Amino acid sequence: MEPVGAPFHSGLLRHTPKRRNVPGCRAHLFRRLQGQAAASMESPAAFRVPNPGWPHTHHWVAVAAVCLAAVAWKLAALLAQRRRALRSVESFPGPRAHWLFGNVREIKRDGTDLDRVVKWGEQHPYAFPLWFGPFVCYLNIHHPDYVKTVWTSSEPKDRLAYSFIEAWIGDGLLVSKGQKWFRHRRLLTPGFHYEVLKPYVNLVSASTTTMLDKWERYAKSNESFELFEHVSLMTLDSILKCAFSDDSRCQTESGTNAYIKAVYELSYLVNLRFRTFPYHSDLLFYLSPHGFRFRKACKVAHGHTEEVIRKRKEALKEENRPDGIQAKRNKDFLDILLLARDENQQGLSDKDLRAEVDTFMFEGHDTTASGLSFILYSLACQPEHQRLCREEILRTLDGRDSFSWEDLGKIPYTTMCIKESLRLYPPVPGASRVTTKPMTFFDGRTLQAGCYVGTSVFGIHRNAAVWENPNVFDPLRFLPENVSKRSPHAFVPFSAGPRNCIGQTFAMNELKVATALTLKRYQLIEDPTQKPKLLAQLVLRSINGIHIRVKAADVQ
Ligand code: HEM
Repeated sequence: MEPVGAPFHSGLLRHTPKRRNVPGCRAHLFRRLQGQAAASMESPAAFRVPNPGWPHTHHWVAVAAVCLAAVAWKLAALLAQRRRALRSVESFPGPRAHWLFGNVREIKRDGTDLDRVVKWGEQHPYAFPLWFGPFVCYLNIHHPDYVKTVWTSSEPKDRLAYSFIEAWIGDGLLVSKGQKWFRHRRLLTPGFHYEVLKPYVNLVSASTTTMLDKWERYAKSNESFELFEHVSLMTLDSILKCAFSDDSRCQTESGTNAYIKAVYELSYLVNLRFRTFPYHSDLLFYLSPHGFRFRKACKVAHGHTEEVIRKRKEALKEENRPDGIQAKRNKDFLDILLLARDENQQGLSDKDLRAEVDTFMFEGHDTTASGLSFILYSLACQPEHQRLCREEILRTLDGRDSFSWEDLGKIPYTTMCIKESLRLYPPVPGASRVTTKPMTFFDGRTLQAGCYVGTSVFGIHRNAAVWENPNVFDPLRFLPENVSKRSPHAFVPFSAGPRNCIGQTFAMNELKVATALTLKRYQLIEDPTQKPKLLAQLVLRSINGIHIRVKAADVQ
């Protein structure tokens, strides 16, 4: 038994360095505290010589020791992670990385970053490592033969990059893995059956027309205007109408849409978090002002989603018969989510439901907004291709103002221009995975288990070893005879393999309808004073916006 007033903490200090096991230290301390308490009870001296200050001090010393041990343990783990990563990428030379910052200082967010990645790719064929701080390394791959190995494998999404987005979109289809992903993919696939997609053509047409009506004033004034903002509202309107039968009127309601603002904020903050090494820690991020802003924006986004689900549950109750939906309105994506049952007749939990709705809301509008904005911009810069597309569209529509399901397959030249724009400006510029077992590429180089692999879709699409004059807009690359000469993994805006984009047919249809109706009504004109400065921020954006001018199209 320790005498009262003995250097209780010195005993602790004596023991602590020898012990690696932190809980062990806690137990030791606990036993001693018990002993101390018992001694105090037994010894009247404890009452005679009160010393209320030092047990407190002792408590803090113990806490500090535990914290120190935890920090030391974390540091050791991080150093081991760095050693592992260094070993794993040693056969992949890459750009010089600072020991502390890695390559982060070269990410300047000034519109040159993606070009820099392409340049690095020219110096380091197939793949090269990129360091985000001292411990996190991604093998950045930018060649079809390499991406094939990664995307045909069943390796999961990496929990680092995707965990930053998970607080927002939950463990939905984009992020989940294993059995959960498989079950959800099976439950949600019927939502993209062509019978479900068919009526969407009219809904997308309606949303596009609302946007084009708003452009009348720009056509009259001949002023240059920022496109992305308009298109974002249009694609949000369209996904709300198609997937959730929700006529939000978000394009015409006054003021900026709070949900759109929240989505912008969330995209920015997820990207910032990725680039800022200390923010990789949940604790530091959520205690920071950026973490506070993230939580606030998440609240707005989640509130929006919950409202959409709540309204539908009420509507379904009113309809009362799931099979009665068809009579009143088309069965939409939300109906499919709410009514989906697996072989055990199990549906999705409320949590899973919100995650899937958030995933579709994000994936279903931000990506198409990016795609369509750059398509219209590309055509503004390519008057001759634009003219050919318009001629084809006018021929197909033959005097009609609306676009039909059957028309989708009748505009091959416009479709090639859309694909060429998706090549030059892929809306999802990159995606990543983590290896759970060693991965050997076609040239014999191997990446160990536990490594992050980033696929640069932008890098593949601009790879000069794959595409001749990669920066030139040339839709004829997508003539069937030219496509057949290329690797199927050379053009991958929607990813490939089992984790490819479930919404790609929906997205392509939307891009075709919106492009066709826009070209029918307006001539798109480049604004040479405002070139887009590209930025990969979850989706491809432009730092300075995307500016064009429009004037009424000559449809004679
Ligand atoms: C131009 C528009 C679009 C592009 C370029 C695009 C691209 C992609 C890409 C590259 C992926 C793979 C991401 C990864 O591996 O991390 C993906 C996945 C996904 N996309 Fe899209 N997407 C588009 C539109 C849509 C739409 C409209 C929806 C829904 C309505 C959607 C829903 C999804 C979902 C749920 C996944 C995850 C699939 C899975 O892992 O099983 N996307 N998309």
